[in-house]
Amino acid sequence: QVIRREDYTAPAFLIDKVELVFDLDRDVTNVKSRLFIIANPVRGTGAGNEVSFDGEDMKLVSIAIDDRKLGVDEYSVDKTGLTFTAPGETFVVDIETQVSPVTNTRLEGLYVSQSAFCTQCEAEGFRRITYFPDRPDVMATFTVTINADKATCPVLLSNGNLAKSGDLDGNRHFAVWEDPFPKPSYLFALVAGDLACVEDSFKTVSGRDVALRIFVEHGNEDRCDYAMDSLKRSMKWDEEVYGLEYDLDLFNIVAVSDFNMGAMENKSLNIFNAKYILAKPDTATDMDYELIESIVAHEYFHNWSGNRVTCRDWFQLSLKEGLTVFRDQEFSADQRSRPVQRIKDVAQLRARQFPEDGGPLAHPVRPDSYMEINNFYTATVYEKGAELIRMMHTLLGADGYRKGIDLYFDRHDGQAVTCDDFAKAMEDANDVDLTQLKRWYSQAGTPSLSWKGDYDADAKQFRLTVSQKTAPTPGQPDKFALHMPIAIGLLGKDGKELVSRTVQLTENEQEFVFDNINETPVVSFNRGFSAPVNIATQQPHDELVFLMGNDSDAFNRWESAQKYATALMLAAIEEFEKNDGDADGALGDVTDFITAMRATLQNDDLDKAFRADALVLPGEEFLSEQRKPANPEAIHQVRNALRKQIGTMLKAEFADTYHQNVSNAAFTPDAQSAGQRALRATALGYLVASGDAQFADLAAAQYRNANNMTDRMAALAVLNHLDHPGRAEALADFEERFGKDTVVMDKWFGLQAMSSRDDTLARVKDLMSHPSFTMRNPNKVRSLIGAFAMANPRHFHAADGSGYEFYTDRLIELDDINPQVAARLCAPLGKWAKYDDDRAAKMKAALDRVLAKPEISRDLYEIASKSRAA
Ligand code: ARG
Ligand code: ZN
Repeated sequence: QVIRREDYTAPAFLIDKVELVFDLDRDVTNVKSRLFIIANPVRGTGAGNEVSFDGEDMKLVSIAIDDRKLGVDEYSVDKTGLTFTAPGETFVVDIETQVSPVTNTRLEGLYVSQSAFCTQCEAEGFRRITYFPDRPDVMATFTVTINADKATCPVLLSNGNLAKSGDLDGNRHFAVWEDPFPKPSYLFALVAGDLACVEDSFKTVSGRDVALRIFVEHGNEDRCDYAMDSLKRSMKWDEEVYGLEYDLDLFNIVAVSDFNMGAMENKSLNIFNAKYILAKPDTATDMDYELIESIVAHEYFHNWSGNRVTCRDWFQLSLKEGLTVFRDQEFSADQRSRPVQRIKDVAQLRARQFPEDGGPLAHPVRPDSYMEINNFYTATVYEKGAELIRMMHTLLGADGYRKGIDLYFDRHDGQAVTCDDFAKAMEDANDVDLTQLKRWYSQAGTPSLSWKGDYDADAKQFRLTVSQKTAPTPGQPDKFALHMPIAIGLLGKDGKELVSRTVQLTENEQEFVFDNINETPVVSFNRGFSAPVNIATQQPHDELVFLMGNDSDAFNRWESAQKYATALMLAAIEEFEKNDGDADGALGDVTDFITAMRATLQNDDLDKAFRADALVLPGEEFLSEQRKPANPEAIHQVRNALRKQIGTMLKAEFADTYHQNVSNAAFTPDAQSAGQRALRATALGYLVASGDAQFADLAAAQYRNANNMTDRMAALAVLNHLDHPGRAEALADFEERFGKDTVVMDKWFGLQAMSSRDDTLARVKDLMSHPSFTMRNPNKVRSLIGAFAMANPRHFHAADGSGYEFYTDRLIELDDINPQVAARLCAPLGKWAKYDDDRAAKMKAALDRVLAKPEISRDLYEIASKSRAA
């Protein structure tokens, strides 16, 4: 049941060409597959002549080899696949299967979303459509014929170019699609339904005209502009920055409501979770726009980093995902504000990847084993993988990195390769040795760095001693020293930068010497988060304040504020636990911190989006990561108390900020306007936090008068925790306005699940029977159930265990519907080691209950058992 990286063997048989014919029907879809097979010339001795294909959850109608139908004793078929004997080195196999799209609630393979047929084949969904060697190193050209009802499926799509289409008997019609690029089965896609289409075009650098189409449910045509614009900008950016051009005459995107993940890069037919396509000012927030931009770019970029060059096996997933995340992060940085983008990416990494790396599910960027590959589409493979690529970029410089990229695509176009192949291209193009840097692929856990500065006035020398340590993770008791670039700034008293240099840390402990330093400098360490690590060293508060105001590295200005706030809150949390719950008393005098916050707020040289970020306190989840045991109530109270003090002390300033940043102009989603709205929302949040009732009224008024979703949600987000009548009013209004709009209603469910009000769990239970809610839709599950566990620590970790109990029931229920989503939602229960004995016992009991479920899926079993064991 455990698959190991070291067990990789090349496929015994390859497939040249695949011809598929779909007879679409919601209940029983018939699939004919014709495979042109050749024995793999490089196959090892002893590969034998047994052919084995993957296949699950479908009916085998017939199989024929070289046009001769096999008798039942000539093949064997079980729950996981089909085996038969090869007649020779090259042969043709015909397989006919039947699948049931409408009962496919796992949303892998061929399924129905709203009224349309669609597919999701990554990682191993193709085997739920037909028997096939469903592994990424088997690449074939596909010709796909789709037959379907004309009235319900006027639109028929697959990968590549439309070769033919026409009418059939019985009110049916057909389309034939040909994809000239060989691809693995996970990149196959099919869509059929009654969809509206928005069309545009792009001229590539070499003059190819590409038709761009976005398909959505009827009525959503006016919500595609931003996705389309993002697509065109992505295409241009990839040409300019990577020299990579699109390779077909057509690029299609389809938005569907039921989707397990964010989106999928199927060759020339990207399929998206509708949430990451649909946007207009009154339905989408600035954050939605940002996500749409980055996910559209991400999937587009996969055309090269993923499709033209793909993964040899799924252990190499980060080869395409880490690289593509790095590419989309850089795209967003170029489109918007670079420092603000970096802050967001790091905040994400810390909130999602660091906890993963420090918990029972820790695994390397290139894992060594898995039970279910879908469980490894993780923050580690994606985001930490992107940090690894970023470190290569830092190390080699933009030009050296680009040389490596050019060589990589040159060498491996059309191939399925490994992370080692990628690193080798980087090495060969630059004549460097990346052996030690590559340990980031294999070693799990977040390194922790400490540093100490020593100034020698006589020698005018500053010595910086840096040490690194990585704690053991499951299966990896001993850790090696990693190679990482650390960007360092040394600042003089007057704020002037004395040194800006990137040093290479390769040892467990290492000294770096800076010459010609005329005064004791203030250190700005790990600028731009050049290495994805924790810093254990606490800088004195006055140095942090100094950096907040003077560092030329905007990231570290933000970081210094985060560190200061974290230090204050952690101290207060400890005090709170001793003083029996007086949060204000525990905080003590925080005037210095708030004074520094005021300076940031009022510094008009800083852009507004940056100021908004810099004024946000580290979240409850982040704080609980720093505490053992974590006390959710203490964390919640202390953070709120600090917010209240900031709101109270800076009331006048925030009120000014609020009123100065009202905009009457029509909504535009650009970064500048978004920054203005974000800063205003931050001000409103603090004003309400001050406890002064007039500001809750102000929030209620903002909700009522809002002419865009960003302002509406900002108001609702603060009202959400209050007893103010404006809350109920706003929620009722929201439901009335958007009740029919499934993507928008996710926000409404999510808000209520995240409320800190005492009645939240009861409300969440009620909402499960709301007509718009269904356990079958992953977005709904994530916004109501997922948000409760992941964004409402106070209620999820309620001392009486009510949160865990409710949640466990949902996991068990969901596992029968959609194991992939159930497994993903299980992770919060795995954090039991971070909590007090009582909570830990309850969380372990919850995991035991999950594990005792009859017929538990492999997906959920893997996460629950690993979480329970560690
Ligand atoms: N390759 C997709 C992306 O990164 C993710 C699809 C993963 N889907 C899954 N079921 N594991 O954009
Ligand atoms: Zn991806």
